[in-house]
Amino acid sequence: MPDPDPRFDSAIDIAPPPVDAEPSVNADFPWDAFDSTAYFEHNYSSLRADDEKIIDIVARFFQDNELRRLRPQAIDVGAGANLYPALMMLPFAAELTLCERAFSNRQWLEAEILQPHPSWWQFWSHMNVGREAYRPIKNPFDLLGRRARVTKGNIFSLPPGRYDLGTMFFVAESITNRESEFVRATRSFVNSLKPKAPFAAAFMRNSSGYRVGSSSFPACSVDEDDVRAALAPVAGGVTIQTVESKSLRDGYCGMMVATGFKKA
Ligand SMILES: C[S@@+](CC[C@H](N)C(=O)[O-])C[C@H]1O[C@@H](n2cnc3c(N)ncnc32)[C@H](O)[C@@H]1O
Repeated sequence: MPDPDPRFDSAIDIAPPPVDAEPSVNADFPWDAFDSTAYFEHNYSSLRADDEKIIDIVARFFQDNELRRLRPQAIDVGAGANLYPALMMLPFAAELTLCERAFSNRQWLEAEILQPHPSWWQFWSHMNVGREAYRPIKNPFDLLGRRARVTKGNIFSLPPGRYDLGTMFFVAESITNRESEFVRATRSFVNSLKPKAPFAAAFMRNSSGYRVGSSSFPACSVDEDDVRAALAPVAGGVTIQTVESKSLRDGYCGMMVATGFKKA
């Protein structure tokens, strides 16, 4: 009997390669082409009410838990084109690491910490009012320039147990379509902190993805229960607050802010 034609052998898996498959994992997206200027202009060229609310939650949390001593090392993971998480940690950290995967965002951050856009004063003024931890700092951007350093980094491979204080704003749910990567990123962020270190993390609520300039970026649609479940094995004293937000774009249902402490 002649050998069967292998093209028709049903035991061989010859599924065709995906044609124009949609990217879904973090590594598939064009992070190095992230348009930092477009992102900054859209999100942070003026202070909105949702960011005011986030500042109220996070600055109060840090002030209530940090006032007594300057912590050696803080990290903002996936800093992007946003300085306000770093500004919120400024009174409490001797060194601030702005960790970014995207080359474009690292370049933008390097320039921005030396010559910040004027809109960051709106964010600083909102933090500063009525908060004694922030009030003594008269030149926040000089101090930020001295304390902050931009580093290349990947949220999935952060060194464990290194940092004394941390923020992660709109990263774990906004870098992938996969729930497993959202969970892994969230836990890796918290695991990069020392035991009992405080953190704040912000998330888009039920986001379906976003455009920056001419590129599309993913989202994993998460709500308060998903954030709570992702944090549960690694964090204690967690509070999750929902922040109303509608005006940024279509395709999301508000924002969430989680505060808590790395488990001892
Ligand atoms: C939606 S933006 C958030 C930027 C900023 N934190 C903010 O609050 O607006 C997501 C950021 O995550 C960064 N990013 C993507 N994948 C990453 C990874 N694997 N590790 C670290 N950062 C990553 C992107 O370059 C981008 O700056």
